[in-house]
Amino acid sequence: MKAVVWHSEGDIRLDTVADPTILEPTDAIVQITRSAICGTDLHMVRGTMAGMEEGTILGHEAVGVVMEVGAAVRGFSPGDRVIVCSTMSCGTCAMCRQGNTAQCDRANPNGPAAGTAFFGGPSTTGSINGLQAEYARVPWASHTLIPIPENVSDDSAILLSDIFPTSWFGAELAGVRRGDTVAVFGAGIVGQLAIASAYRQGAGRVFAVDGIETRLAQALAQNAEVIDFNREDPVAVLQELTFGAGVDAVIDAVGVDSQRPKSGPAAEAAEQNAEAFAAEVAQVAPGAQPHGDLWVPGDAPSQASQWAVESVAKAGRIGIIGVYPPQLTSYPIGQAMNKNLTIRMGNCNHRAVTPPLIDLVASGLFDPTAFITQQIEIPSAIDAYESFDRREEGWVKTVIDVS
Ligand SMILES: NC(=O)c1ccc[n+]([C@@H]2O[C@H](COP(=O)([O-])OP(=O)(O)OC[C@H]3O[C@@H](n4cnc5c(N)ncnc54)[C@H](O)[C@@H]3O)[C@@H](O)[C@H]2O)c1
Ligand SMILES: [Zn+2]
Ligand SMILES: [Zn+2]
Repeated sequence: MKAVVWHSEGDIRLDTVADPTILEPTDAIVQITRSAICGTDLHMVRGTMAGMEEGTILGHEAVGVVMEVGAAVRGFSPGDRVIVCSTMSCGTCAMCRQGNTAQCDRANPNGPAAGTAFFGGPSTTGSINGLQAEYARVPWASHTLIPIPENVSDDSAILLSDIFPTSWFGAELAGVRRGDTVAVFGAGIVGQLAIASAYRQGAGRVFAVDGIETRLAQALAQNAEVIDFNREDPVAVLQELTFGAGVDAVIDAVGVDSQRPKSGPAAEAAEQNAEAFAAEVAQVAPGAQPHGDLWVPGDAPSQASQWAVESVAKAGRIGIIGVYPPQLTSYPIGQAMNKNLTIRMGNCNHRAVTPPLIDLVASGLFDPTAFITQQIEIPSAIDAYESFDRREEGWVKTVIDVS
């Protein structure tokens, strides 16, 4: 079968590989009909999420059709249309039973202390082959798969595999309440759906911060109040718009490939911090292999964290869903402590968060297809990665039609 395979930092290829087979009685084989490219995949190719094993199939977002189930899989049979949750979970351990499905005690082959197991990630997450492929082996299938209602199309379901639940979870982590002022840092697809989620969870005003104009235009179309960090100082503007109070809640939808402003009033302060940022880049991406303007790690891993802590109100709340690798140790802890902040974070508990969101989509109350900017087929996958990495205009969310 065809699959997008990680070879090394800066080297991914569309390879022909062996079809997956059932290895454990809890596995299922799914024929993928739609997959997608995520900002998380960029971390792996840029080298800001270290520890990938050569030969790992990339991708952790998919919908498809069950082909085969292992002897211990109940609840699904061949022919069922399914969402594959990005993170795997057993459904019966103590973590799963509390809804912390991204911390399942059984799913990560490295053992219960190893944390999240997800498709197409580094060795610490299990090196489990990913979903940018024609077929996939889905471990712990009984709980990692979710059936798709008949009236929901594959295109409507694909953002339920990772993005919509993650964004919703981000607003929950930030404790968004009725009337809150909320700042969303990052206007990629996760930030876009975080804006949508924050409004649906009751936010009064939502501000979106990014440095890419077209992404901010997409946020504006959702009625977010946009701030371009290359033109304005986001902390100063958020203070001004809240009459000095700061925002009640912040959602960090940026992650480790955070950029610092290159122009505008915030650029000078960031420039003064350039050495510290460079040390962070060396810490998180020792193996980075940029090719010209391709696969370049973000130049300021803690920039969004700093702005989040500076712009939130005293006793405010921050929800972090942007991905940061274990190697990154810098966070403005002192400033956060002295403002009495509540900071919650993590990999989305997909299996626990997703079911009610399927109802929102099935009922027509929320249309995720409006957020898909590119539809490609698998032979164009590497070109699509490159366009997405380069931030070419309009490349926000690419869905891969594998059917
Ligand atoms: N926690 C989870 O379970 C989970 C799931 C999916 C994605 N993610 C993470 O969410 C993040 C966003 O994913 P995406 O697909 O939208 O990625 P993306 O790369 O398309 O979007 C990131 C956006 O952040 C912007 N940005 C960079 N520096 C910034 C700064 N200092 N301030 C504000 N904005 C800044 C970029 O311009 C870009 O638009 C990634 O880190 C991804 O790994 C987490
Ligand atoms: Zn993703
Ligand atoms: Zn579990």
